[in-house]
Amino acid sequence: MKINVLLGLQWGDEGKGKIVDVLTPNYDVITRFQGGPNAGHTLEFNNIKHILHTIPSGIFHKNKINIIGNGIVIDPVIFKKEIVSLKKLGLTSFNNLLISKKAHLILPSHRVLDAASETSKGKTKIGSTLKGVGPAYMDKTGRNGLRIGDICTTDFYEKYKFLSNKHKEILKQYNFPYNLSEYEKDWFDGIEFIKSFNLVNSEYLINQFLNENKSILAEGAQGTLLDIDFGSYPFVTSSTTVCAGTCTGLGVAPGKIGEVFGIFKAYCTRVGGGPFPTELTDETGKFLQREGHEFGATTGRPRRCGWLDLPALKYAIMINGVTQLFMTKADVLTNLSFINVCTGYKVNDDIINYLPFEINENVKPVYKKLKSWKKNISNISSTKDLPLELIHYIEFIEKEVNVPIKIISVGADRKKIIFRN
Ligand code: GDP
Ligand code: IMO
Ligand code: MG
Repeated sequence: MKINVLLGLQWGDEGKGKIVDVLTPNYDVITRFQGGPNAGHTLEFNNIKHILHTIPSGIFHKNKINIIGNGIVIDPVIFKKEIVSLKKLGLTSFNNLLISKKAHLILPSHRVLDAASETSKGKTKIGSTLKGVGPAYMDKTGRNGLRIGDICTTDFYEKYKFLSNKHKEILKQYNFPYNLSEYEKDWFDGIEFIKSFNLVNSEYLINQFLNENKSILAEGAQGTLLDIDFGSYPFVTSSTTVCAGTCTGLGVAPGKIGEVFGIFKAYCTRVGGGPFPTELTDETGKFLQREGHEFGATTGRPRRCGWLDLPALKYAIMINGVTQLFMTKADVLTNLSFINVCTGYKVNDDIINYLPFEINENVKPVYKKLKSWKKNISNISSTKDLPLELIHYIEFIEKEVNVPIKIISVGADRKKIIFRN
């Protein structure tokens, strides 16, 4: 058996959580392979709206195994809060939730470092979610990090103190006030809490599951344009968000990757700083933000909105080897007077159809104008009932990117979904 991967093709928030929840019944195991509580994955069903940050989006389906892979960074405080809120929704047993011993810990001082670094950048700040994700990954690659497996070792407190003191030294170079003690208390509380979970050698387990022909879905976080290598650097996150991250974030060989599901919104959004060639700062941008409820699931910040960007989408498809596309939030485009799709960029006097190294104000989108529709599509469950203009929009994208769009999502709820043959 191979492992299927679902990942975002834009700047995150494409609707990964919703679609993973929809697809979970087809799988035995759901795993997260990168990122941390910077992610906010929203699930809606039975009038419940729930946001997950660290826990895979298969958690609401009983009897499915959910694994937090080695590529993840975990904040014990946030993890505990997530479990508490799941308990409030009636989940009683978490025997099916496994955590890799090789996943890294986000320390309270990582959060402070994140905030201090962002503040020092002033106008050029990245717009981090300030969850300490960047500094935690820096310590991982710097070979200083603490891992989940460390929490059960006798000298864990010394290891913690050593790293935390190191951070305090670094913080001296910033004129940044902080107080660790409150968060530290909750953090150690969270550490004790995590000890009651199944802490596993997830790479062995996942490969064993594959050998036993169990079906596995890997759930990406963030999006391709936020990838540390291929995103709009430096306005990116600190992990490998692309398909290759599945291999390092779970311990599966490249040949074990099966289908790669690329998910994109019918338009674009971005939260935080950085280039966004098709951004709309006008009434249409406000319309998309309002109709799409475009506010960050983790920070509540308004998301910047703009038209669909095909050169960026093609780039993401190439980097990930996407085999099937899923388009979300098609319903949000209803009632616009027209729809623009960016097919290339004008850079000075040249028209290019690739993502340039530097995306600055000289990179202007070139648009193809398409017809819109007025019909409410949020209750449609079959392609044949979709307005012709939307079918044209879908077919236009498919022709441009040469990958079939297999799912159209028309609302936030689990049930608002159309499968295409
Ligand atoms: P993720 O990070 O990729 O899981 O996405 P988020 O949960 O951060 O953001 C997606 C938002 O859009 C959430 O509020 C979802 O409930 C919502 N959503 C997902 N799919 C659709 C859709 O097809 N239509 C509409 N209107 N909302 C959707
Ligand atoms: P999901 O999984 C959207 C953005 C932040 C910031 C940059 C770096 O819900 O799609 P970080 O906290 O990693 O230092 O932030 O990346 N960002 C996201 N944007 N969705 C996310 O996750 C994001 N995770 C990080 O806004 O611009
Ligand atoms: Mg999100």
